[in-house]
Parts: sequence; C-alpha cells; structure tokens
Amino acid sequence: MESKNCVKKVYVETMGCQMNKSDTERILGMLSHFGYEETQEPKEADLLIINTCSIRQLSADKAYSAVGVWGKWKDEEKKKELAQKPFRNIKIAFCGCVAQQDKEKLLKRFPFIDLVFGTNNVYELPYLIERINNGERVCATNETPKKFTDGEEEAKYDIKRAKSLNAWIPIMEGCNNFCTYCIVPFTRGRERSRKPAEIMEEAKKAIKDGFKEITLLGQNVDSYGKTLDPNKDYDGRDVTLANLLRDLNKIDGKFRIRFVTSYPTDITDDLIAAVKECDKVCEFFHIPMQSGNTDVLRAMNRRYTREEYGEIVQKIRKTFQNVAITSDFIAGFPGETEEQFNDTLTAIDEFELDYSNTAAYSPRVKTKAAKWTDKFIDEETKSDRLARLNEKNREACLKSNEKCVGRVFEILVESYEEKNGDIILAGRAENNKIVHFKGDKNLVGQFVNVKITSASTWHLRGELA
Ligand code: SAH
Ligand code: SF4
Ligand code: F3S
Repeated sequence: MESKNCVKKVYVETMGCQMNKSDTERILGMLSHFGYEETQEPKEADLLIINTCSIRQLSADKAYSAVGVWGKWKDEEKKKELAQKPFRNIKIAFCGCVAQQDKEKLLKRFPFIDLVFGTNNVYELPYLIERINNGERVCATNETPKKFTDGEEEAKYDIKRAKSLNAWIPIMEGCNNFCTYCIVPFTRGRERSRKPAEIMEEAKKAIKDGFKEITLLGQNVDSYGKTLDPNKDYDGRDVTLANLLRDLNKIDGKFRIRFVTSYPTDITDDLIAAVKECDKVCEFFHIPMQSGNTDVLRAMNRRYTREEYGEIVQKIRKTFQNVAITSDFIAGFPGETEEQFNDTLTAIDEFELDYSNTAAYSPRVKTKAAKWTDKFIDEETKSDRLARLNEKNREACLKSNEKCVGRVFEILVESYEEKNGDIILAGRAENNKIVHFKGDKNLVGQFVNVKITSASTWHLRGELA
C-alpha cells in the first residue's frame, strides 16, 4: 500500500487484556506509515477497527454489539450516497481474539464488515486494507503465528504508544498450557518468544522517549525464552525472564520494570533472585491461582496444588518486605462443590492475596471443560459464588491496604485532579497500589516519596514525605 497525501482517520476500539492494547499500539503505528491518523472520535473515522477479546462469552458479546452500532452508521452513509448527498466511505475491520476464533463466520453474520483479521495477521494489515479499499471483503486468519517467529515484520514499523507513562513490551505470545476452561491457546497459538536484542532495543527507545515504566507482556511471561537458542539468539546464557530483567535493569535512567502474567510453577528461584537484585524491577507479582482447591485445579489442568501455590507465595513474601501478590479466580467451574468453592475463599485469606481479578466460569468453544455440560453449575449459584468471592476480595484488599499505613512508598505520579481548590495527585507504588496525595501538577511523571496516612478498599491516601 502506498503512503497517501490525503490523510484518512482511523479509530480503534480495544477490548481485553494488555496484549490487545499492545497490538493496537502496533496497528496504529503501522497505519501511520500508510496515511492513517488516529482519531478518538469514531463518528469521524474512515476506518473503524474493533480489537476484540474472547476470554468470556460476555467479552465476545460486547464486541458483537459494539460493531453492530458501526454497521448502522455505515447504512446511514450508504443512504446518503444513494441520495447523492455527501457521504463517508466507512470501512469496518474486526480483529483480535474473537476474529481468530470466528473467522469467516463474522463476514457472514455482519454483512457490513469489510475485513476480519486474526492475531497472526496483524503485520499484514496495510496490504489487507489496500484490498478492502479496492472493494473486496477479506478474511485473514492464519493458523500459523508470524509474530515473533522471524522477528522481521514487527521490527519494521513504529509503535504509536498510548499517552501514558507506561510502555507495554510484548516479550512472548501464545500458550501451551491448555487450561481446560481457556480459549487463549486457540486464539493466540503456541508459545513463542521474542529475541532479547529486539526487546532491549524497544525498551531503550521507550526510555529515551520519556516513558517511566516498561511492562513486559506475555500470557506466561515467566516461561520466556523456551523457544529461543542461548547461542544463536543470545550471548550463551540461558534465555530466561530472570536474565532479561538483569539486562533491562542495566539501561540508564530512572524507570520501573514490571512483568505480567506469571504462571505459579514457572516462577523460579532465579527469577525471584533477579527481581531482588534489580533495583528497577518492581516488587510485584501477578500469579493467578484460579481455584483454592487442588481437585478443581487438577480438573482445570493447572499444574500445581493448593500447597505448592502457597509455597511459592511464601518464598516471595520471605524475600521482599513490601511485595504485593495478586491473583485471578474463577467461580463456578464445572463440578465445583460448595466446599471446594470455600477453599478459594480461604486461600485468599491464607495466602494474604493483595487483590484478585474474579469471574464466573464461562464455557468457551473448543475448550475441554465446555464439553462437561452435565457438570455445569447453574447461573444463579455461579453469580452467588462470584458475589461472595468479590466480597472476600474487597475484605482482603482493605486488609492489605491497611497494612501500608505509616509506611513510606516511592510513587510514580501518573495524573492529577482538582478537588475543592486542591490538586490531588494519583500515582502507583512499586507494589502497584494506587496512592492519592496533595501536591503540585508538575510532579506528574516524576518519582516522589509519600508517607501513607490512611487506607480504603481500592486506594491509599498519603502526604509528600
Ligand atoms: N495466562 C494467565 C491468564 C490469562 S486469561 C494465567 O494463566 O493465569 C485471564 C483470566 O481470565 C484467567 O486468569 C482466568 O481467571 C480468566 N478466565 C479465562 N478463561 C475463563 C473462562 N472460560 N471463564 C471465566 N474466566 C476465565
Ligand atoms: Fe489460559 Fe491457562 Fe494459558 Fe493462562 S496458562 S493463557 S489460563 S491456557
Ligand atoms: Fe482476551 Fe485474547 Fe487477551 S481472549 S484476555 S484479548 S489474549
């Protein structure tokens, strides 16, 4: 596709996890080379892209209904065209995990969609758009991953990062774990890792551009490097997240390094040691447990017991003083008894989890658990369990926050708000807790020390120390 002088406008609606947010930044960067400028206003866009998530049925349904609204706009423009009035030639593209899953079905179901492209086709987008601009309807959903397999495609284009202090850097993608409830191995393919040199280059550029935090992304970020060769792809050392953190920590400048998401049993002693050694790496671990009951974990195909999860948490807590450990839990997995669900509630207490994402089990096509219909938990019980899980999570968060009172944290100031004539700054501590305090607007983007004076469920309050 040739760069055009006349600028077209593109709007991207992004749903789902950080991996999708990162893909959107790459899509916008790529399109900027081909005459497209980002707009925040969908009603003025020539190209509308929806980047979708399929983790639960609700996420997929949200995508279907959002794109339906765009379809109506397109119809209205068509009517204007027929009446020979000025009209916009809107193109609609549907990508992300629902696209990878539904493929051509989307073109059949939504006649107004011009392009469906999957998670493995992101870097072909300019060519795909050229085809739809020539009037074709296109579905591109390769099964074989291209991203991070040869490293050439993704290196070619800039990234248009969201206005924020944090730069997302994907370091691996895909998953080989096949937890019985999860769609991700089907939408993101098999696990593969990006070469360390490319990651280093991207991180150095982000820091040079003024970002104050980099977050390394992967579905199983601590399994990084398994598909790479220590001699061919690195300097002979083991290609691991621990060594990558050590390398990134040597980049000059004041900034933070985070990584998500960790699989419990992939957290090695060396990784814990690296986090400890590296002053820039935040003392924060997101380690989804999914269930507090070992039999449910086995049915989920998670490779650890309740006790083994506890041992990892204990190891981490022994090593770091202010560490936060967060988790994800699913309520109402097929066959989960009341007693087993109760083990999830007690796990949150026993392991003193600082925060948890929670969800009711949602059957996903192609996954194993979706076939166990005879064991499905009814909707009412599921939502009752979810409510109790949320209540437990709120309690745990408040408890965890109250423990912070009196401590001094280094805060990266992210934003401010004017309230009754005061400037209230908001930022994050190393352990990811949100802190509000009075201060000067100019502190946004800087690191300051704050003494915590009080706690509520979702955030802390403090004063500049
Ligand atoms: N790779 C991460 C999780 C990625 S998906 C890990 O292994 O932990 C993010 C979260 O969505 C999961 O942790 C899980 O709690 C939730 N989730 C995934 N599939 C789900 C389903 N079918 N129903 C409900 N929640 C689900
Ligand atoms: Fe899904 Fe399990 Fe892979 Fe996480 S580890 S992405 S939950 S299959
Ligand atoms: Fe959703 Fe795909 Fe992420 S299913 S959670 S957007 S990997």
